[in-house]
Amino acid sequence: MRVALVTGGTSGIGAATAEALQAAGYRVAASFASRTEAAQAFHARTGIPVFGWNVADFAACETGVARVEEALGPVEVLVNNAGITRDGMLHKMSAEQWREVIDVNLGGCFNMCRAVIAGMRERRFGRIVNMGSVNGQSGQMGQTNYAATKAGLIGFTKSLALEGAARAITVNLVAPGYTDTAMVEAVAPEVMARILSDIPAGRLATPAEIARAVVFLAADESGFINGATLSINGGKYMA
Ligand code: CAA
Repeated sequence: MRVALVTGGTSGIGAATAEALQAAGYRVAASFASRTEAAQAFHARTGIPVFGWNVADFAACETGVARVEEALGPVEVLVNNAGITRDGMLHKMSAEQWREVIDVNLGGCFNMCRAVIAGMRERRFGRIVNMGSVNGQSGQMGQTNYAATKAGLIGFTKSLALEGAARAITVNLVAPGYTDTAMVEAVAPEVMARILSDIPAGRLATPAEIARAVVFLAADESGFINGATLSINGGKYMA
């Protein structure tokens, strides 16, 4: 039974991914940042063990991964899903809004990969799936910070894919479109109406529709898929 760790794995796309991996036969751990009550409720509902730490904190990622490995065994599948938005037009964006998003979305991916990569190299197996976004591909007003991280993850993914390929470590990215989660719910209704009208499918994705792609990329059988970006956006943007 392979061990999978999903960051931001107790809500939204992360929770759906953790549950889908569990259903596919993985031993799954889910990390969360601060919403302890919601995480405990997720654990009570699914039985998936939850671990609290901030992925923006390098040392906390090292200790967090050590705790997961002590409980479940070596992490063979890492899903870097944890992400935040701090939307605002650039002319109104504070340095803090910029830095927070960079530190969590991009820094978190580095910190987590750094914590698991040596073990994956030693064992000569690994699956890393990074969560991108259609907005990192197309750009999005109000999201210079977020789009920069999601586009940055594409370059990160390709580079680490090259580094791990000879040791059977694959690194891929899933780029969801607008998905029915709290992050999207936070968008103002009038803006949301415009966004929806721009999605050919005429609806948001369900978290399960994104999770399905992560499970596919995490599979042992997906070993020849490396450095890829898998877009799932209802036709909104075709790369
Ligand atoms: N699509 C089309 N038009 C948009 C838009 C969008 N996504 N976002 C803003 N606009 C339009 C507004 O409707 C408005 O147009 P009008 O002047 O014609 O009315 C104009 O841009 C200015 O918007 P605001 O009045 O809202 O200006 P603001 O400064 O108060 O806020 C904003 C600007 C921060 C961009 C805000 O509109 C906003 O938060 N927009 C949503 C941004 C967004 O799409 N975020 C994605 C969140 S979900 C996510 O990130 C998950 C994922 O990966 C897909």
